[in-house]
Amino acid sequence: MDKIRVMGGIPLSGRVGISGAKNAALPALAASLLTADTLQLENIPYVRDILTARNLLEVMGVEAEVREDGTATLNAGRVRSCEAPYELVKTMRAAILVLGPLVARFKKARVSLPGGCAIGSRPVNLHIMGLELMGAKCDVVHGYVEASTPGLHGAHVMMDTVTVTGTENLMMAATLAEGETVLDNAACEPEISDLADLLRSMGARIQGDGTRTIRIEGVRELHGSRHRIIPDRIEAGTFAIASAITRGDVEITKCNPGHLTAVLTQLGHTGAEVTIGSDGFRVRGRDPIVSKNVATHPYPAFPTDMQAQYMALMTQGDGSAVITETIFENRFMHALEMIRMGADITIDGRQALVRGGKPLSGARVLASDLRASASLILAGLVARGETVIDRVYHLDRGYYHIEQKLARLGANIERIR
Ligand code: EPZ
Repeated sequence: MDKIRVMGGIPLSGRVGISGAKNAALPALAASLLTADTLQLENIPYVRDILTARNLLEVMGVEAEVREDGTATLNAGRVRSCEAPYELVKTMRAAILVLGPLVARFKKARVSLPGGCAIGSRPVNLHIMGLELMGAKCDVVHGYVEASTPGLHGAHVMMDTVTVTGTENLMMAATLAEGETVLDNAACEPEISDLADLLRSMGARIQGDGTRTIRIEGVRELHGSRHRIIPDRIEAGTFAIASAITRGDVEITKCNPGHLTAVLTQLGHTGAEVTIGSDGFRVRGRDPIVSKNVATHPYPAFPTDMQAQYMALMTQGDGSAVITETIFENRFMHALEMIRMGADITIDGRQALVRGGKPLSGARVLASDLRASASLILAGLVARGETVIDRVYHLDRGYYHIEQKLARLGANIERIR
């Protein structure tokens, strides 16, 4: 299994280009199931979760080609199976995103339930509730959701919790439902609007994406299209913290700073100098790093997918900071590994108290999930000596060659095969 080795102590400098967003590309791939025509996608990150999604579509009979140059061609004209097998779903929860499109177009689906994950129980009850309100019959049998319908119809779906993939699944299903669907308390992450843009370019009638209320007027069928995926705001945020924590000077390009307002504002509060440009932004790290509390919430607030990276920064703060994780019940695994590097962190349920100002020392650490692995690289960039991160397959799920990108910014980092 690959490992990443980092030698700390070097301020990063230079320019880094951001890849396409994994969490926008995954629903876009699933959307290919909504039409028999061809979908051309651009700016797709060549990361492991995308390849898993491709494999899943291929198992169903979709012609799916994903290339390292960021382009993908998909055609679901000859689908032969509406089943998403456990073997693939267990490796990537987002596989649940095929449920809505399959039920909408093929009126049936058999999708393995994702089950729990390192960061929380993560049920999909709202996905199922929404489909049932739209006229699907859903049963959970032998670990699979078995759904069928004579044809979906519009419905008013109030989601008591804001769910990103739940909103995406139901929005896709509603595009082919008879009549109007209203999704209330919907997620409004930029990835939702990117999916809505793609679906509209396929002929869907969608309004209100980007707000808490989305209206979808169903149509009889959707057609093919070409769509460019938005940049990855979480990858951009990760590099922003890499510059701040190393007291570096990095220009982060090919991204939309408007998708990161909460993160960049918080970074400014911690003393880093953030300059917004047209194609990205620049972060200059400053001393001291000011300790500041933060709480994660649905977009446009501070994202949970930046919480671990922010914790690494706060280990170098000039005081104490309280980090509150409101989205997932078990998303502090990285803290235990940072403590092994000498950080002073106390966990109390969904709150972590990070006392800054303690120098970190390099150690062997274990990645538990995608963003935790990124946060351990950030901690390693400022630790004295060598840090070796194990289980980096988590990292490869969502970051494209992050160690090479960091090395081009001057980091002493390498992958150990
Ligand atoms: C998406 O996951 C992202 N994944 C996650 O990114 C991200 O952390 C999360 O949204 C929150 O922003 C993708 O887009 C592929 P949720 P998702 O449904 O949709 C509860 C990364 O690092 N809930 O918005 O699975 C749930 O338990 C990943 O790239 C229900 O109770 O998350 C959680 O507490 C990690 N019932 C909350 O809602 C449901 O039916 C938000 O989860 C659905 C969700």
